[in-house]
Amino acid sequence: MSLAGKKVVVVGGSSGIGLATAELAKREGAEVIIASRNAERLQAAAAKLGATGIATDVASDASVAELFKKCGAVDHVVVTAAQLKTGPFKTVSMDDVRATMEGKFWGAWRVARAAEIRAGGSLTLVSGFLSIRPRPNSAIVGAANGALESLARSLAIDLAPVRVNCVSPGIIDTPIRAAMPEAARLDMLAKVAAALPVGRVGLGEDIAQQIMCFMTNGFATGSIVYIDGGGLIV
Ligand SMILES: NC(=O)c1ccc[n+]([C@@H]2O[C@H](COP(=O)([O-])OP(=O)(O)OC[C@H]3O[C@@H](n4cnc5c(N)ncnc54)[C@H](OP(=O)(O)O)[C@@H]3O)[C@@H](O)[C@H]2O)c1
Repeated sequence: MSLAGKKVVVVGGSSGIGLATAELAKREGAEVIIASRNAERLQAAAAKLGATGIATDVASDASVAELFKKCGAVDHVVVTAAQLKTGPFKTVSMDDVRATMEGKFWGAWRVARAAEIRAGGSLTLVSGFLSIRPRPNSAIVGAANGALESLARSLAIDLAPVRVNCVSPGIIDTPIRAAMPEAARLDMLAKVAAALPVGRVGLGEDIAQQIMCFMTNGFATGSIVYIDGGGLIV
């Protein structure tokens, strides 16, 4: 087991890509801590995984500081936490776009500042395809993703010898689209799948595998890896 004896913290680990990463880290022998806001969902996921759940809001300096005080020194940290509020550029509210940056970008920043990661350990951030493949009405998400990718490169210098990397997912079927009407969600996923060279949308596990690679490959730092089923080449 490649993570035996290692302590792994997944911030955003109660759902989707984070949950899949926590599951994989656990299977690879790590002690796993997951963190997110909704305590009920967090503790249910932690119990199922055999992990520890620590309720945390990445939009709060104090909450993130408290999380890492409780964790102590760790080996690998992964940040998947995000709640995205977007809309047409000219009319989307400033509250919504600020909230998106507060969670997705500043949340990752806070985690990077607060985490005590052992030398040779790693921090993995999660951006997304919109940074280089923009879509209508999602400028703030593209901007947050681009900022995270730049942040990962900078932190690979500032936090060395801790390694810092970023994975950029394509369309992944996770609860992130739970608010969409089910028929529209399935229709969108089917259309995306049909257009991709791999003929399917992604699963949380597809991104978890790349995150595992960042954790275990001691030569990987400052890397941005796009895992998107070929979305960027079609
Ligand atoms: N799924 C995709 O197609 C896709 C594509 C490109 C990029 N991404 C990126 O991949 C990352 C993970 O997405 P996902 O699909 O796994 O989403 P998800 O299933 O909605 O999971 C998001 C997780 O983050 C937590 N979270 C949200 N806001 C938080 C906050 N302020 N503080 C702490 N935890 C918070 C959520 O729990 P609580 O709500 O309980 O806090 C949940 O555990 C995101 O950054 C997303 O933008 C996803």
